[in-house]
Amino acid sequence: MDRITKPNLNNARKRTKDNSNTVTYNAKTEIKNIGEGKKYLIQTHGCQANEADTEVIRGLLENQGFIATTVIEEADLVLINTCAIRENAENKVFGELGRLKSFKRVNPDLVIAVSGCMPQEEEVVERIMKKYPHVDLVFGTHNVNRMIEYLDYVLREKKRLIEVYSKEGDIVEKLPQVRENRFKAWVNIMFGCDEFCTYCIVPYTRGKERSRHKDYIISEVKELIKQGYKEITLLGQNVNSYGLDFSEEKYSFAQLLADLAELDIPRIKFTTSHPKDFSDEIIDVIARYDNIMPFIHLPVQSGSNNVLKKMNRKYTKEQYLDLVDRIYKKIPNISLTTDIIVGFPTETHEDFLETLDLVEKARFEGSYTFIYSPRKGTPAAAYENNIPAEEAKQRLYILNDLVNQGYARGNHRFLHQTVKVLVEGYSKTQKDVLSGYTENNKLVNFKGDDRLIGQIIDVYIEEAKTWSLDGKIVNEDKEH
Ligand code: 5AD
Ligand code: SF4
Repeated sequence: MDRITKPNLNNARKRTKDNSNTVTYNAKTEIKNIGEGKKYLIQTHGCQANEADTEVIRGLLENQGFIATTVIEEADLVLINTCAIRENAENKVFGELGRLKSFKRVNPDLVIAVSGCMPQEEEVVERIMKKYPHVDLVFGTHNVNRMIEYLDYVLREKKRLIEVYSKEGDIVEKLPQVRENRFKAWVNIMFGCDEFCTYCIVPYTRGKERSRHKDYIISEVKELIKQGYKEITLLGQNVNSYGLDFSEEKYSFAQLLADLAELDIPRIKFTTSHPKDFSDEIIDVIARYDNIMPFIHLPVQSGSNNVLKKMNRKYTKEQYLDLVDRIYKKIPNISLTTDIIVGFPTETHEDFLETLDLVEKARFEGSYTFIYSPRKGTPAAAYENNIPAEEAKQRLYILNDLVNQGYARGNHRFLHQTVKVLVEGYSKTQKDVLSGYTENNKLVNFKGDDRLIGQIIDVYIEEAKTWSLDGKIVNEDKEH
């Protein structure tokens, strides 16, 4: 029989005061070798939270004997880890699911699975049930740890399984992981979001804010250091509110940052920050430690106080600019980037001008820019949307022009300077050129030996472009 548990957005909205439960994953009881001789392919959409989940899914699968492939015709399992943040992200996934139908026709044993944020939405699950009968397995963000049990059922019973929880699960520690990168690692410090910005689906798809206990985070980072990792990025929807959900212990994001910075890890980054919780204590810690990178992604969303209020962002333009000022004063070499939404319901031309003004004043060195996309179940979806699509597009173009000047200015700061680069590999566009990122998160291309991959080296910048820097290695003996 098909096993079906559907999501419920009303339940997803609820928040309890209960402390989150932490449980430990027991790999031994889960080993069933169901992947023996089988290959898997995962397509990951969306943010770093999804990328981190994919690394766990890969770990779970490879523990069962599955082997990764990039060739779809070879795959026994294709899983799409989905994003629900905007409609176009979802359309891409539905397009992919449609395309997969023909592969299933050729190989009826192919298992097609959908995970991540989209299954947390009622409408998506209904649509998959009605229109995508070739999808065998659907699970959400709260039960990734159970996927082997689900997959086992689908393979044995040849039945469809849809299981999505709308109440957040436990924090599951000790899950296996296969990391994509050998030098840079994501480290979840918390899950979920309690902000409920009115446009955003994330608090519904990822549930209540739950912080991981510091001991687990610190021991994960120590293990990464042992394995030779050079950079960690601490992940959470709002990292600045880390620890606020602990009822007994008082332990903040600033303390966590400082404790991690004391370890022997060359680079610490974090994302995403919410301006309302960005304390002076956090600024001081970033300023104090050289291994906390001078780079902050600080989504502002809009420069208009009217719009910010309707978005439920809990700060004003003035408060945001004041925070930015305090950051620049204490960390003068910092690079700031942001997220901005245009065309939010009721956004007037004047509101938009306020956003442009803020972008100039905040001196951003980059921004992700989006046209507002209504998400069913969120408060803003019920607001009257009076911004014609054409107008929203025009605003996006104008904003992007200004934002691109910021990218160029951010790169020009480093012209004729020596910067530290963590070498990632060969450049995507030029085959014999290496590339990597600076401490301020600038992309640098330079000629060099592939033995430098994974090392932090000094590069002298000879040319600054809008999207990248070109340079030459200063002194190869100085690597560390
Ligand atoms: N429409 C457009 N952009 C959105 N974002 C979140 N929800 C929406 C939406 N409904 C943007 C915000 C957020 C980023 C990850 O995505 O700018 O910071
Ligand atoms: Fe969405 Fe706001 Fe939470 Fe970010 S802080 S995930 S924009 S609700």
